[in-house]
Amino acid sequence: MTSVLVLNGPNLNLLGTRKPEVYGSASLEDVRESCRQQATALGLDLDFRQSNHEGQLIDWIHECGSDVRAGRSIGAVYNPGAHTHTSIALRDAIEGVELPVVEVHISNVHAREEFRHHSYISPVARGVVVGFGVLGYQLAITGLYELAQQEGRR
Ligand code: DQA
Repeated sequence: MTSVLVLNGPNLNLLGTRKPEVYGSASLEDVRESCRQQATALGLDLDFRQSNHEGQLIDWIHECGSDVRAGRSIGAVYNPGAHTHTSIALRDAIEGVELPVVEVHISNVHAREEFRHHSYISPVARGVVVGFGVLGYQLAITGLYELAQQEGRR
C-alpha cells in the first residue's frame, strides 16, 4: 500500500502540555490517531514520526525521497517546529531529494513573534497549512494526496 509520511520536528513530543493556549490540548498520540483515520480514508498507510534531532530528520527526508521515487509514498506532511525558522540543512534535504512536502503549523506563525514569520521550508514546500490547530495535519494529508493524484503518482 502507498504511504504518507507525517514528520514532526523538535518539541512536538510535548504537544498537549506545552503552551496549550497556543497549541491546544491534543497530544501527539491524538494527532497520530487523527492522521491515521485521514490516511485510511484516502487508502494510504500512515508513517508517523517525531524527532528532536536535525540529522535524524534529514535522514528520514532522504529515505522518504527514495520511497516516493519507488512509488511507495506520496511524500511528507511536515511540521518542522522551530527548525522552520533556522534550518537551511532541512530545506536542502527536501530540495535535494525533490520530496513533495506540505508544511504544517498548528499555530498561525504570522500572528506571532517576528522570528516565526520567516520559513526556510516554505520555498521548497508544495503547500503550507497554517493556523488551523491540529486539524491542519488532516488538511495537509488531503492536500498532498490531491497533488499526487493530479500528478499521476496516485
Ligand atoms: C510550530 C510553530 C513554530 O514556530 C514553533 O517553533 C513550533 C510549532 C507550530 O506548529 O505552530 O515548535 O511549528
